[in-house]
Amino acid sequence: MCGIVGIIGRKAVAGHLVDALKRLEYRGYDSAGVATLEKGTLTRRRAEGKLRALEAKLEREPLSGQIGIGHTRWATHGRPTERNAHPHATEKVAVVHNGIIENFRELREKLGKNGAKFGSETDTEVVAHLVTDEMKKGKSPIDAVAATLKQLRGAFALAFIFAGEEDLMIGARKGSPLAVGYGSGEMYLGSDAIALAPFTDLIAYLEDGDWAIVTHAGVEIRDVNGHKVERPIIKSSASSQMVDKGNHKHFMAKEIHEQPEVVGHTLAHYIDMTTERVQLPIDLPFDWKNIKRLSISACGTAFYAGLVAKYWFERFSHLPVEIDIASEFRYREAPLFAGDLAIFISQSGETADTLASLRYAKENKQHVLSVVNVPMSTIARESDVVAPTLAGPEIGVASTKAFTCQLAVLCCLAVAAGRSRGVLSDQDEQNLVRALIETPRHMAAALSLEPQIEALARTLTNCHDVLYLGRGTSYPVALEGALKLKEISYIHAEGYAAGELKHGPIALIDETMPVVVIAPYDKSPRREGVFEKTVSNMQEVAARGGRIILITDPKGAREATVESTLVLTLPDMATTVTPLVYAIPVQLLAYHTAVALNTDVDQPRNLAKSVTVE
Ligand code: AGP
Repeated sequence: MCGIVGIIGRKAVAGHLVDALKRLEYRGYDSAGVATLEKGTLTRRRAEGKLRALEAKLEREPLSGQIGIGHTRWATHGRPTERNAHPHATEKVAVVHNGIIENFRELREKLGKNGAKFGSETDTEVVAHLVTDEMKKGKSPIDAVAATLKQLRGAFALAFIFAGEEDLMIGARKGSPLAVGYGSGEMYLGSDAIALAPFTDLIAYLEDGDWAIVTHAGVEIRDVNGHKVERPIIKSSASSQMVDKGNHKHFMAKEIHEQPEVVGHTLAHYIDMTTERVQLPIDLPFDWKNIKRLSISACGTAFYAGLVAKYWFERFSHLPVEIDIASEFRYREAPLFAGDLAIFISQSGETADTLASLRYAKENKQHVLSVVNVPMSTIARESDVVAPTLAGPEIGVASTKAFTCQLAVLCCLAVAAGRSRGVLSDQDEQNLVRALIETPRHMAAALSLEPQIEALARTLTNCHDVLYLGRGTSYPVALEGALKLKEISYIHAEGYAAGELKHGPIALIDETMPVVVIAPYDKSPRREGVFEKTVSNMQEVAARGGRIILITDPKGAREATVESTLVLTLPDMATTVTPLVYAIPVQLLAYHTAVALNTDVDQPRNLAKSVTVE
């Protein structure tokens, strides 16, 4: 993830910007830069590599400006070079950015036609030119930013400073976090409280769609419609830790809310945003065309990610997939054929059963690829190749952002396999990649349902059993939703393939057991889909007095007219990416039920974050 920091101060800020960026190094980066106002002129210092390279440059060419922005960059659009390092600037504005501007290509083409000259391959530079164009039309910096934000689609955070404006800095948040720091006669912007800890512990987190007009005297926060809003100022405890809860009550809540940012960050590492094609950041020691069968093995939530991937690999690459939980896979003596591929999925990279299964696969001459969140973990080190999830540290025992990042990586692998095996056309691939690029924005929209879900969760607290149903790739999401609820609220929950309802679980249905149905509307001219079959299941539940909670999209909400149904409506999106987005409401439902029951959400009883024993 990129790191953002801004200071509007009373003394030279360049060194303080670098200090703040050092506290964001945990997010990972491959270049860095700062921009300050030197006698009214925007001046930049940028360097490839670690912050010491930037410090050396500042030693040689110091900056004395008292207002500035800084950035650590994980290369997404364009290589990790000084030329692509942030801040990006024109003669009027400098900007730093974290996240994805989905529509940057069309904006770049439009700006280019109007004569804009680009010095980088980045999506961020488009933002600088858009603001400049608006200012050239006579708009003030504030109005120019407001007009620009309306043109941007995606999930991102931004910070701006302007030539000649010694008392103005603007920040904006749309999917990626951004905080305002309150000092005495100074004000700050930062990706999180950790960055601002050297200057202040008084922090206000912007909410999605907010933008902040910052001066020495304070801040005016406006919402997406431009109306003034107040955001609570909290006393941060980030000064000591290097990972903190932000403005959330639990790490799990923070990690649920980080998903648009970290999924966007992970996708940007597996997709070339310029060509909108999958570009794996790893060298595979095998050719997909030579793989006859794919084995997938994992535990818990990671297994459910693998179950989704089974549908994707089979559909996009026609690869037969064998999948099993690791504790069974390692003892079954599954016949494996030399030269095939085994994928192991693990957030911690230390799960004993998954590691043992990996070793079984290696003994049977499988190519071993692991999808892990901890690069130097045991599973990573024993794999032939590692596909990292860039979720950042996941502290909550209940896995959330690691799950959706695993899905992002697995979907890119499945698309790469399909392309390599000649199953996916260029157009198919581009459609799938575009759907993935839009996912962080849909996840941010799903998060906006939180108040409705929180109210719904309070009605579950006196339930003893909850059933989750789904078909297709919504079936593993049903399993994951049930796992989330039971592991943190201690309410028994069970995920089931909706088509299995009549083969037993229907005997459980009565008014005391809520049924959560995960069902995007998936009917299309090309595919019959399974939505209507799931609606039949809902009718069977309603006919027996069951209470239904339906998670769907606007068309599904219109079509599924079944009595006693509460509907959570997510945006329209490509069916392929629904598992990543529909995971959010089931995560939030579990979280708020647990909070209402006052369980230990981050460290539920009997559970460990990593099960390193059998
Ligand atoms: C998920 O919320 C649970 N904490 C648990 O099922 C977990 O997914 C499982 O233990 C696998 O852990 P890993 O991803 O670190 O291998």
